[in-house]
Amino acid sequence: MAVGKVINLENMQDGRGSLISLESTQNIPFAIKRVYYLYDLKNDKPRGFHAHRELEQVIICVSGSCRLVLDDSIERQEIILDDPSKAAFIPKMVWREMYNFNNCVLMIIASEHYDPADYIHTYNDFSQEVTQSA
Ligand code: TYD
Repeated sequence: MAVGKVINLENMQDGRGSLISLESTQNIPFAIKRVYYLYDLKNDKPRGFHAHRELEQVIICVSGSCRLVLDDSIERQEIILDDPSKAAFIPKMVWREMYNFNNCVLMIIASEHYDPADYIHTYNDFSQEVTQSA
């Protein structure tokens, strides 16, 4: 059982280059409410280190590469994001960490508007909430 899911996006590639289309509730498995992107990332400055109670996300590395670690408090999964046609779906209640940014631009597709109250900021609180909801 994997924690997240890799989605292989269809690449419309021809002699001019590549094009990938993202469609709400089609190749993105939820209704899209928000898109944000991370750039100017530093190799030695990992990000994430939180979980979301309700938010679902798809992460796409549109340029460069990084390492994504997902953890549902039982299992840990590592996904190398190094291809714009490879997307990582992160379900709700999954702890995420991102490392080793190498010229990396990350686009994140989100199922909800930004809500600070949806964040769980410590791994201890996260694993306690998982246990309580079981
Ligand atoms: P943060 O969630 O810490 O980023 P990461 O998960 O990549 O480590 O967000 C960084 C800052 O940006 C924080 O002050 C919250 C703010 N923010 C928004 O205002 N809107 C958003 O949609 C997101 C994702 C973050």
